[in-house]
Amino acid sequence: MKNIYIIGFMGSGKSSVGQKISERWNYHFTDTDTIIEKKYNKTIPAIFSQEGEGKFRTYESDALRSVPNENCVISTGGGIVVNKKNIESMAQTGLIVFLDTSFNVIDARLRSDVSRPLWNQNRTKQKQLYKVRETIYRSCAQLTVNTDYKTMDEVASEILGSIQSIE
Ligand code: S3P
Repeated sequence: MKNIYIIGFMGSGKSSVGQKISERWNYHFTDTDTIIEKKYNKTIPAIFSQEGEGKFRTYESDALRSVPNENCVISTGGGIVVNKKNIESMAQTGLIVFLDTSFNVIDARLRSDVSRPLWNQNRTKQKQLYKVRETIYRSCAQLTVNTDYKTMDEVASEILGSIQSIE
């Protein structure tokens, strides 16, 4: 069976939802940020501050390439779509699912978060990033699920129901 790639903005619940889908379908679960942190034995903020975003993006593309080509649910970092080749590779090996979460809900969830360097910026930059990313997520996803005010279980069920009707 094809992979399932979960994409979406920081704080949209990609890891929790991905994990739930993998448990219910008995798929492997992996997360590109976790692959990077384990491989380099560093946190994401440490990689950003010591090596810069460019290097992180290289690590991220490598992490994506390292996952199996089938039977896997992969939760991706919010910026995976910045590199077009990553989008192509996800589209070739699986179904791309966008967790669509409004800016206000993200903002409430990430208010005290300090682990995401690209969120720890001023409000104007946060909104700009959200807008730019949202356009890309929408354009490359085969399935979009709104997550506002839903539990992670509800989102996972919705995705699984939609996938079954696609296949
Ligand atoms: C990023 C999102 C983060 C992480 C890094 C960069 C982004 O992952 O990969 O901080 O560019 O949106 P989450 O989406 O899991 O927070």
